[in-house]
Amino acid sequence: MSLANRHILLGVTGGIAAYKAAELARLLVKAGARVQVVMTRSAGEFIGAMTFQAITGKETRSDLFDSAHEAAMGHIELARWADLVIIAPATANFIALMARGSANDLLSTLCLATAAPVVVAPAMNRQMWSDPATQANIETLQEHGRLILGPAAGEQACGDVGPGRMLEPADIFDAVNGMFTSGALAGVRALVTAGPTREAIDPVRFIGNRSSGKMGFAIAQALEEQGAEVTLVAGPSQLPTPSGVTRIDVEAALEMHNAVMQIAADCDLFVATAAVADYRPETVASSKIKKTAESQEMRLVRNPDILADVAALASGPFTVGFAAETDNVVAYADEKRQRKCIDMIAANDVSSQSGGGFDSDENALHVLWEGGQQELPMTGKLRLARQLVELISQKIHA
Ligand code: CTP
Repeated sequence: MSLANRHILLGVTGGIAAYKAAELARLLVKAGARVQVVMTRSAGEFIGAMTFQAITGKETRSDLFDSAHEAAMGHIELARWADLVIIAPATANFIALMARGSANDLLSTLCLATAAPVVVAPAMNRQMWSDPATQANIETLQEHGRLILGPAAGEQACGDVGPGRMLEPADIFDAVNGMFTSGALAGVRALVTAGPTREAIDPVRFIGNRSSGKMGFAIAQALEEQGAEVTLVAGPSQLPTPSGVTRIDVEAALEMHNAVMQIAADCDLFVATAAVADYRPETVASSKIKKTAESQEMRLVRNPDILADVAALASGPFTVGFAAETDNVVAYADEKRQRKCIDMIAANDVSSQSGGGFDSDENALHVLWEGGQQELPMTGKLRLARQLVELISQKIHA
């Protein structure tokens, strides 16, 4: 279920349907989403902040000028945090505020300040719903790209019968869930390795490499955008975790091997972008090595090949490897693909004149699989990652 780890901002406005927002919050939390509730002042007349807090494990917010909350996560940060905003229930008044672009409380300000999609579930008396002013406001919201869910028709709290009831929480949940599971890789469990590894020499020194992790993080993001459920096993990297991706941080090749082998058999796709150290010091000094000797020798031993080990699993995932080469790029890469028994290899020209590779923001790839190949020319790493994911997706579905 790819709602897992999504950041959902649930805005609750002041109508009798506000109590149903608690059930919606519960369904979202149960699906693994991280839910932050923001209530308008009038919502507080219908339901208590504590109810939402107990369900979401997060303090409910309502005040734009609350210095303690703003210091912890300011409203702009909160607007950026959200992957999706749901206004449920949305009163006629709040819909009017949104249509006008008002920012007179925390929730309306967040609606303006967020770049995330905003879903609106109206709830009001049928007469208020059919009033031309409300209908014009709804049209405006649709023109602004807001998704309107409902309302449903039926018996209303005021005794009227007609359109205006908020959609049931389960229906809102299904619609929202569908937004996150509609990509070409929906339901695919993907595992990605990224970044360098660090092989300890003593408590303060290690053997490392220049990998930034940018390509692997971009691939994790591109897979997630296509609806895959992504786990990223990352060597030391300062890069932010792409939204919706589960990250496991490791240091050494053996740790990365362990982390990967624990989950690889349950995955459908494995993409190995990590620059894994081929060797590690045979022994790690328990205290800092002093410079007493004139020369030092260090014996290195081979690390396991993570990619080859995953490819050797009996009913393992579809495997994609990377090959960094300085010459004979295509021939060497294809030899690597066959030797490691992997399904696809993305070859990377890291010769000095190529312009792409390790710490660069751009890269070019030559992708090879059994019976086919495709060149992906030099471009930004995220764009390139999306193109590679498109190729992977075609092969998986074929
Ligand atoms: N890889 C891995 N585990 C290792 C080494 C490499 O998973 N211990 C993966 C990398 O993430 C990458 C691919 O294997 O996807 C690249 O392998 P590379 O180290 O370039 O290939 P080698 O077979 O070691 O060949 P070379 O002689 O070129 O080093």
